[in-house]
Amino acid sequence: MRLAEINDGISAAREALRGNNVYAVTDSNVARLYSQLFDGVKTTVIPAGESNKNLGTVGKIISDMVEAGCDRSSTVVAVGGGVTGDTAGFAAACFMRGVNWINVPTTLLAMVDSGIGGKTGVDVGGYKNVAGAFLMPERVIVCRDFLQTLPEREWLCGCGEMIKHALLDKDIWRETTAHIDELISRGEAAYPLIEMSVRYKESVVAADFRESGLRKRLNVGHTVGHAAERLDGFRLSHGEYVALGIVAETGMFSERLDGVFLRSVRELCGKVCRHPFPIKDASAITDTARADKKNSGGNIVVMLPTGEGNVDEISLTPDEFEKRLKKCLSDL
Ligand code: GLY
Repeated sequence: MRLAEINDGISAAREALRGNNVYAVTDSNVARLYSQLFDGVKTTVIPAGESNKNLGTVGKIISDMVEAGCDRSSTVVAVGGGVTGDTAGFAAACFMRGVNWINVPTTLLAMVDSGIGGKTGVDVGGYKNVAGAFLMPERVIVCRDFLQTLPEREWLCGCGEMIKHALLDKDIWRETTAHIDELISRGEAAYPLIEMSVRYKESVVAADFRESGLRKRLNVGHTVGHAAERLDGFRLSHGEYVALGIVAETGMFSERLDGVFLRSVRELCGKVCRHPFPIKDASAITDTARADKKNSGGNIVVMLPTGEGNVDEISLTPDEFEKRLKKCLSDL
């Protein structure tokens, strides 16, 4: 697997967009802030926001590409956050049965997580990422300067996934707990942490591209997090739901966890998401979690971080899941 290229300025992104037979996909925010990047480049601009990560947007990109004369030698260059990368990558996987793509993530979340690892796809019927394909981008070009225009909320969103990585790796845990306030406030210490997060994600993907084993650990916080996100109508950012999901899922199994570890987890997650847990209905969360693609055999799977980078895969009947969740929600 080729490693992500980590740059300071955005010239590498500009060069990629000037490549041979390139078709660009970006979102309305990036198109407005960085309009010169796309001068003279055939581009589809998709409206920003999770609600546009759908099959209709994929169809629009594909029909725009046909009309622009793209062919099997075309390369899709996605410039944007997770929605843009996931949607454009899926369009690349579908266009004429698959063309190359390059990902230029512009948000913290996309740089450290969604932009790395070739999971492309869209939401269907409000269910997250249930239509998709694995297609590794030819290149991932991380340009730190894009972060200068990133709104506060989007920064915190990326921090949610970085805290998830900290739970999965001893070295990242040590550095993150030591520098959490600088990370949250965008201090210089954030940048080595971002690089650690990028490299960690790459190492997991290199070991298990299709998520048959190790990669499942990246779903920590996501069983409850995704369900809350859907039920809450995507009011908060994805990273905030991940932080809330981590607190809920660790709370569901608090008897298995060391008290000091549990308190640190809650403290880190509380820095990312200051909102109370938004859904109090354990039965609704359970019903939604049952439809999650991580499950099998009718059970609901939770990936539980247990400290020192270890993760247990726990499979629960919906009744057991609901019982534990109900108890833990009353304490949140
Ligand atoms: N975001 C989880 C994964 O890429 O596997």
